[in-house]
Amino acid sequence: MLARPGSMQARTTMYNDNALKIGLFGANCSSGRSATKVPERWSASWDDCLALAKLGDEAGLDFMLPIARWKGYGGETDFHGATLETVTWAVGLLAATKQMTVFGTVHAPLFHPLIAAKEFVTADHIGRGRMGMNIVCGWNEGEFDMFGVKQREHDERYSYAQEWVDVVKQAWERDDTFDFDGAYLHLKGARAFPKPFGGTRPLMMNAGSSGVGQSFAVRNCDAFFVATQGSRKSLAGNAAKVAEVKAEARSHGRDIEVFTVGQVICRPTQQEADDYYQHAIIDNADWGAIDGMLANKSITPQTIPPDEYYKKRAYFASHAVGGYPFVGTPDKVAEELASISEAGVRGIGLSFVNFLDEVPYFCAEVLPRLEHAGVRTKN
Ligand SMILES: Cc1cc2nc3c(=O)[nH]c(=O)nc-3n(C[C@H](O)[C@H](O)[C@H](O)COP(=O)(O)O)c2cc1C
Repeated sequence: MLARPGSMQARTTMYNDNALKIGLFGANCSSGRSATKVPERWSASWDDCLALAKLGDEAGLDFMLPIARWKGYGGETDFHGATLETVTWAVGLLAATKQMTVFGTVHAPLFHPLIAAKEFVTADHIGRGRMGMNIVCGWNEGEFDMFGVKQREHDERYSYAQEWVDVVKQAWERDDTFDFDGAYLHLKGARAFPKPFGGTRPLMMNAGSSGVGQSFAVRNCDAFFVATQGSRKSLAGNAAKVAEVKAEARSHGRDIEVFTVGQVICRPTQQEADDYYQHAIIDNADWGAIDGMLANKSITPQTIPPDEYYKKRAYFASHAVGGYPFVGTPDKVAEELASISEAGVRGIGLSFVNFLDEVPYFCAEVLPRLEHAGVRTKN
């Protein structure tokens, strides 16, 4: 077995001195995390992703987290209709960057664990220890139908994922030839070389929102991404969520870091930021795409009362698609991020309507304020 605690600390970036790690979320998907029709919405082209990764790497951003999405949500823009596959995307970005961690996102039921284990090892060698793994158990029926794979009942998805992770970890850690005889996976004479870079392993994360998803994360992962609104409304709410997750991890003799996600619209004045948020996220929302996303969760005007539906839809567009909206001046955005850090959240994956247009301003104005607040160190 690997001597995990010591060696994981040696992995670059995710164990650096920044109390609050900052990453970019969803850049491999068309429109990123903004279901908007504005013409400047994110293309997710390879050239744009590459330029973004280089820019983020130079500015000292800590990670890039893609979304494994196989099918668009429809609407006028077919939100997420064009996506770059995340593991191959990560490999390209790792080869072009020096310090940031890049995640690949795998749907456990769609990738054989031995293939995934080897893909991530290969990427990890290319990135010299900077590859991360986001494990997704699946929720989107339409996507699974497209593969001809039947989704298991909700909690059972995590039982399967447990075996999947056990196999991946054994492939990364064991020096012998091994058999695996689980309820779902049956492997004979499995063997996997080389091992991940530097005698350690890729950082593992999960973002399940259910209790069973959280338990899976605390048992298996290094990072747990929470996206629930309730936990992010206040410093106390955040702190309580972090304490709850860490306590659950401790009950398994483990430690885990809590991360979250959000959308940034940062402008020199509050009015400019508010106006652009209203323009891009509300007035030009791609309502067809938002309806498609909600329908995937069986929320339609037919399944719930229409009034309630339209309220939910408005809330979803304004707060949920991109995550908590950080809208305001550099001072305000930095203050809100510092508050998240104070609550014990270890990091955040941010998205922007157009990453390349907006990340330079964020890095120039918000990062120094976070350094000043003691939340990040100078790059
Ligand atoms: C930060 C973050 C990243 C996620 N990435 C993906 C993804 O790439 N693909 C996907 O199908 N689901 C993704 N999800 C969805 C979760 O993995 C999970 O399926 C969802 O939160 C439902 O949770 P549950 O399985 O516990 O019910 C993501 C969620 C969050 C908050």
